Amino acid sequence: MPDGSSFIFHDLAPGEDSFRDAVLAGLSARPKSLPCKFFYDERGSALFEAICEVPEYYLTRTELAILETKAGAIAEQIGPNCRLVELGSGASRKVRLLLQALQAPLAYVPVDISRGFLREAAAGIAADFPDVEVIAVCTDYTRPFALPKISGPAGKTVGFFPGSTIGNFEPEAVIAFLTHVGKLLGPGAEMLIGADVKKNKAILDAAYNDAQGLNAAFNLNLLHRIRGELDSDIAIGDFAHVAFYNPDEGRVELYIKSLSDQSAVIAGRRFSFSADEMIHTENSYKYAVAEFHALAARAGFRALDTWTDAEGKFAVYYLRRD
Ligand code: AVJ
Repeated sequence: MPDGSSFIFHDLAPGEDSFRDAVLAGLSARPKSLPCKFFYDERGSALFEAICEVPEYYLTRTELAILETKAGAIAEQIGPNCRLVELGSGASRKVRLLLQALQAPLAYVPVDISRGFLREAAAGIAADFPDVEVIAVCTDYTRPFALPKISGPAGKTVGFFPGSTIGNFEPEAVIAFLTHVGKLLGPGAEMLIGADVKKNKAILDAAYNDAQGLNAAFNLNLLHRIRGELDSDIAIGDFAHVAFYNPDEGRVELYIKSLSDQSAVIAGRRFSFSADEMIHTENSYKYAVAEFHALAARAGFRALDTWTDAEGKFAVYYLRRD
């Protein structure tokens, strides 16, 4: 029985070695790359929350508006006594709209790689929704993990994957991920997924190059992490943020560009960067609604509902695997 302010915390998070290993491997590859999941240490998670507030980054506020407007219809799809599993829960802000609208939700399982952020978010939900059992799981949700067993009356276990995080996967990896989550949730798996929609390049370029420079700080946070965690002398000021929509690939691409011929020691090894060399740090795929439906279908999921804002900038899908 939840007591109103406590929550259970499963700590399965990978240690620092995985960041070190990923950086050494990514900077040894040609072209160089760094995985975007490492954006989200405490500082990076806070920077991302700040990005969500800038005028150019329409994604978060558009998705929140959809969730707010359609909360009744979503709650009807999900039904009573659900267990809600959020993959990449961050600040657990969007789920509040669902928990308020749902009929007697039993449990909320936030899953996130950022330990401190997850702890704080889980405590906040536990305090504000005393009837909901909160079981936080600190892990990399792209890797297999077990769902905690939650007793209580029958109801659905629904996956919640908002924020267009799914855009970070290659389309083939979306299929693998949906298949993996489908198995995790079991027969009749249902998921509520938010995904950004393809649109005009100028709008997308602006969203990832905000005037306040928060996208830049977020991207370059990877270099801060390298300096802080990997005994590095890398000259952060000698690199720049680059982001643009690539319409041929249907994705926004992020890079860290070296501004000069330079080298840096990282975890005892020396790496060279030539002037204008680009380190790839993220892809953010955008899907037309029909495209996303087709992709989900390849993982055995059917869209029972699709909700968008009036301008069709962002889409929220309710998927079921029969
Ligand atoms: C959290 C993956 C949805 O791709 O828009 C924000 C991350 N990257 N600015 C996105 C991000 C650069 C974001 N997602």
